[in-house]
Amino acid sequence: MASARTLDDVAVKGLRVLVRADLNVPMQDGKISDLTRLERLAPTINELSAAGAKVIVCSHFDRPKGKPVPAMSLRPIAAALGTVLGHEVAFADDCIGPVAEAAVAKLADGDVLVLENTRFHAGEEANDPNLSQSLADLADIYVNDAFSAAHRAHSSTEGVARLRPAYAGRLMQAELAALSAALGDPQRPVAAIVAGSKVSTKLDLLTNLVAKVDILVIGGAMANTFLAAQGHDVGKSLQEKDLHATALSILATAKEKGCEIILPVDLVVSATFAPNPPTQVVGIDAVPANMMALDVGPATVAGIIARLPHIKTLLWNGPLGAFETPPFQTATNALADAVAKATVDGTLISVGGGGDTVSALRLAGAADSMTYLSSAGGAFLEWMEGKILPGVEVLSAGLSNLG
Ligand code: 3PG
Repeated sequence: MASARTLDDVAVKGLRVLVRADLNVPMQDGKISDLTRLERLAPTINELSAAGAKVIVCSHFDRPKGKPVPAMSLRPIAAALGTVLGHEVAFADDCIGPVAEAAVAKLADGDVLVLENTRFHAGEEANDPNLSQSLADLADIYVNDAFSAAHRAHSSTEGVARLRPAYAGRLMQAELAALSAALGDPQRPVAAIVAGSKVSTKLDLLTNLVAKVDILVIGGAMANTFLAAQGHDVGKSLQEKDLHATALSILATAKEKGCEIILPVDLVVSATFAPNPPTQVVGIDAVPANMMALDVGPATVAGIIARLPHIKTLLWNGPLGAFETPPFQTATNALADAVAKATVDGTLISVGGGGDTVSALRLAGAADSMTYLSSAGGAFLEWMEGKILPGVEVLSAGLSNLG
């Protein structure tokens, strides 16, 4: 991909700037439970506002399926954004049409307006040219700062970018720079940690990574499928029996490509999956028939930590164990501490992403020490899978046909 234009390439004073943000923040009991996405968006909005743009923010929130759902209104999130920005934020009850147009017409240079949920219109997810045009009609230029929604080819992420001069916002720029440094042209040796419950949901990821990284650590319940495929009895552990052949073929490809695979050598097992149950640490050939693996064991973590001094770049997606249920966060925390330390010492470039990974690193107290933590979930995965992200692609595609 050619590089996208950025805010360095445009004088925005007096311009109406449509910013595609990702205001799809996590909520619990009707309250925003994590402000990270708003905080990461703030530099772009503040920079545009300070430069005298009329800032018009659009975003989806949740999955209302093409019709207005009051509980999925962006109104409360717009208010929270105002608090994060330290700046008054206006709100329009529709993202297009007379309501949005009137709200935009009222903006003075430097003002910030948030438009209602783009997914209240069925045209958004259909990438309907009419919706794209209505969004474009509100603005002179378009800025995409929603890397985390860039895997969606929707009107507000893709269609509208074809209709106005399009630029990457500061968060989009930071995400692309960090991810390219980690996987595009990384300092080697480069290692990836991939974990999670299922091989099936990360098949494309594993296949892409074995061809790109020098070391691949496989953890979480998906490791059980690999261990079982190799003939180890994993007892009652979660595994995908129908994917044994696939797991073996990933291992064979890794060998062919010179990618070393690190699988658990020991496991923390329990008869029940509940907080603080009785547990045992067992070797991979000694999982009792009535027990399940819920974390990788201490010898496995020690082995991974011992490799860190020989790794220059580390990509991390997926906690090693069932980290939300104590004590199965132990391995993830121990590794997170070691990764944080190596990063702070300057010997390791560490990049993490994906919802669970970010939560696990936060709980481990390691999040702020990582070189970069992506704000994206699905988009981070698709990028690591080597897929083209339409919302990113269009930013450079637009260079050839727009002034
Ligand atoms: C996310 O939270 O990953 C993005 O906002 C995309 O949301 P979606 O999966 O509903 O498209």
